[in-house]
Amino acid sequence: MKENPFLVRGYASPELFCDRESETDILLSNIQNGVDTTLISPRKYGKTGLIFHTFRKILDEKLPISGIYVDIFATLSLKDFIKALSEAILVEFPEKTSIGGKFLTLLKGYRPIISYDPANGMPQLEFNFASPNEKEYTLKGLLNFLNVQKQHVALAIDEFQQITEYPEKNVEALLRTYTQQMHNISFIYCGSKKTIMAQIFSDAARPFYSSTRQLSLDKIDSDKYSAFIREKFLPVTVDDDAMNYILEWTRRHTFYTQSLCNEIFAMRPQAVSIDVARKASREILEKETSNFLQIRSLVTDQQWRLLIAIAKEQSVRSVASAEFLAKYHIGSATNARRNLESLTEKELLLETITPTERTYFVYNVFLSRWLERTY
Ligand SMILES: Nc1ncnc2c1ncn2[C@@H]1O[C@H](COP(=O)(O)OP(=O)(O)OP(=O)(O)O)[C@@H](O)[C@H]1O
Ligand SMILES: [Mg+2]
Repeated sequence: MKENPFLVRGYASPELFCDRESETDILLSNIQNGVDTTLISPRKYGKTGLIFHTFRKILDEKLPISGIYVDIFATLSLKDFIKALSEAILVEFPEKTSIGGKFLTLLKGYRPIISYDPANGMPQLEFNFASPNEKEYTLKGLLNFLNVQKQHVALAIDEFQQITEYPEKNVEALLRTYTQQMHNISFIYCGSKKTIMAQIFSDAARPFYSSTRQLSLDKIDSDKYSAFIREKFLPVTVDDDAMNYILEWTRRHTFYTQSLCNEIFAMRPQAVSIDVARKASREILEKETSNFLQIRSLVTDQQWRLLIAIAKEQSVRSVASAEFLAKYHIGSATNARRNLESLTEKELLLETITPTERTYFVYNVFLSRWLERTY
């Protein structure tokens, strides 16, 4: 039986990755030209996928670049950052290779406790730093190691906004100072919290100000996404109205479009009609219901009503209009504005900004569809 070609997590291969050609080219060109990149988009648009796709292209084209990927989402301090970076370097340069061997020797100088993950045999490190100086010295040592390699290095730091949560006060300045000196490394700073990323990179008072080129990931082009979906379903055909439904119902938000296609594919239909697509969407919402009820318990009644209202309207520009407030019983304009802010902060609402207006959507597209149907 043909495997499900619609991934809902991770990156597998260029065949299962739709488009992003120009973004891949830009990222690659930045890497090759020593330009650092900030990669920004809302959650689940495909930032991490794009990094892996670009690294894969580097491998396929045998370009003289080593790609290193560090996810710092779960890190809480500079010490965790150093651990994550060291382990990521070991993924690219395994200890059996000559560079990996040298790297391990360097690491041992910092006296970490090294254990091996029984599941995959990967080294795991536990550092104990006696002083802040030792931490800084280690960080600099790691970056220096990459900087003196023969091959150019692309170092992608995913969920970069996390550094603002570290208790150490000087992390941004420290990283900026070190990264500036590393001419053999092209950095990719990736994040979904737009406001925090903007503060780090666009605030003139902060160390990283104007130091990178920004690459904003948008939705995948409609025509390209439909061609991709049709091709992956072959020999099963997809009706035009089913295709419109898939792209519209999921708002072409990559993860949600992938999930719906995955669900439809799993039903192994003879043909993808709009009825099949609708049935799959209903099943997804049923499976997600308990998650949505969980979210319900995290917000106030007024906030919940605001979410329902925005879901029903699809999107809103102004929550303070008298008509909107009255239609959905969401309290005063001041309260509505405050709730809007709080829900955006909690990532339950997605704010999109153009030069002329701000628009709000329920961030999780499935939650949006569920609210729309349920209330
Ligand atoms: N171009 C693509 N073609 C097909 N599937 C994709 C594509 N880009 C991403 N995906 C899929 O969409 C989902 C979300 O992608 P990814 O995790 O890369 O998003 P992200 O922007 O990094 O999200 P987050 O902000 O939550 O980290 C994944 O399941 C991934 O497999
Ligand atoms: Mg990601």
